[in-house]
Amino acid sequence: GRQRTLAMIKPDAAASEEEIVALAHRHGLRVVARRRLNLSPAEVRLFYREHRARPFFPSLVSFMTSGPVVALVLEGEDAVPAWRELMGPTNSQTARAVARASIRAQYGTDGQRNAVHGSDSPCSAQREVSFFFGARSLVPIQLRL
Ligand code: CMP
Repeated sequence: GRQRTLAMIKPDAAASEEEIVALAHRHGLRVVARRRLNLSPAEVRLFYREHRARPFFPSLVSFMTSGPVVALVLEGEDAVPAWRELMGPTNSQTARAVARASIRAQYGTDGQRNAVHGSDSPCSAQREVSFFFGARSLVPIQLRL
């Protein structure tokens, strides 16, 4: 069915926003909401709190605060898995080996600088959309024309 997901274009790919959004559109995902912003270290720690014990966490916080990110709410058929499929594997080097047309293959560098993020479930999507757009009222799917 129709779903929404939270997509984030990371600092290493923020300059390629238009191309990445065009790819999403071509795959049937439309942009419902958009914010370009600089995240603070505290915001990155909160957004990625499930990874706080991992060895790469401090480096992830540095990377994610190195420049602007673009948060997008994408809507479409099975948007959560559809966007993850379009992103490709987490590590951009792996993506170039097994999913050459994916966003991470084309715009990312390695396991950390991987161009984009996407919610891993409808439940995470709800939490992550609220993280970026919580104060605004996104019109409910079923009420939109
Ligand atoms: P993302 O899908 O946004 O979720 C967590 C992020 O942590 C991931 O993309 C990468 O940017 C980063 N990450 C995950 N695994 C590693 C790793 N092994 N080394 C460095 N960074 C990683």
